[in-house]
Amino acid sequence: MRTAILASGRGSNLQALITTCQSGNLPIEIVAVGSDLPGAGALMMAEEAGIPARVFPISNYQHRQAQEEDILIWMQNNEVELLLLAGYMRVLSPYCMSQIHFPVLNIHPSLLPAFPGLHAQRQALEYGVKVSGCTVHFVDEGLDSGPIILQEAVPVLSEDTEESLSQRILAVEHRLYSDAVRLLALGKVERTGRRVHILQQEELG
Ligand code: GRF
Repeated sequence: MRTAILASGRGSNLQALITTCQSGNLPIEIVAVGSDLPGAGALMMAEEAGIPARVFPISNYQHRQAQEEDILIWMQNNEVELLLLAGYMRVLSPYCMSQIHFPVLNIHPSLLPAFPGLHAQRQALEYGVKVSGCTVHFVDEGLDSGPIILQEAVPVLSEDTEESLSQRILAVEHRLYSDAVRLLALGKVERTGRRVHILQQEELG
């Protein structure tokens, strides 16, 4: 699957996906990386891996829709079949989502539907939950609200800080995102409304 990745930040999830691809354990081709932030670490990681990287700085556009139009054209030109959000800090508008006719996935550092949005790990600590984790889900028009593909729990320790909890969740994210994308690429993800079923070997035709 020809895959584009959008990232706004340091890009550790992007790097994990690139590394898994390079090791032959992820049957996708990352053909393009994009960001809304010119200095994003993710852009450097893409360049180091020889993947074309492109910036769509929001300040270059008069309207949000114009930025999204450029992203849509960029994906079309790259014949993208799968879009992965990896720390992309903007919500794709309903208009943008309506123009995308292939899967869009996101990773979020909590067990959704708990703690959507920013600072999910801080929200978890402030709430006082004993277990948090991460979620890979399909993107829909809402905020971290699409159908869930995979989740994995991470215990919250009494001595945890936002930093320590984030680090432990991140280590799981790096594995879980590749696991979910692999299942999708192998045709093992079946979606019925909000429910996502992972097909077992014997269920595959
Ligand atoms: C991750 O925690 C991811 O779950 C969230 O944003 C963060 C991105 O981190 N959506 P990185 O840029 O991949 O290191």
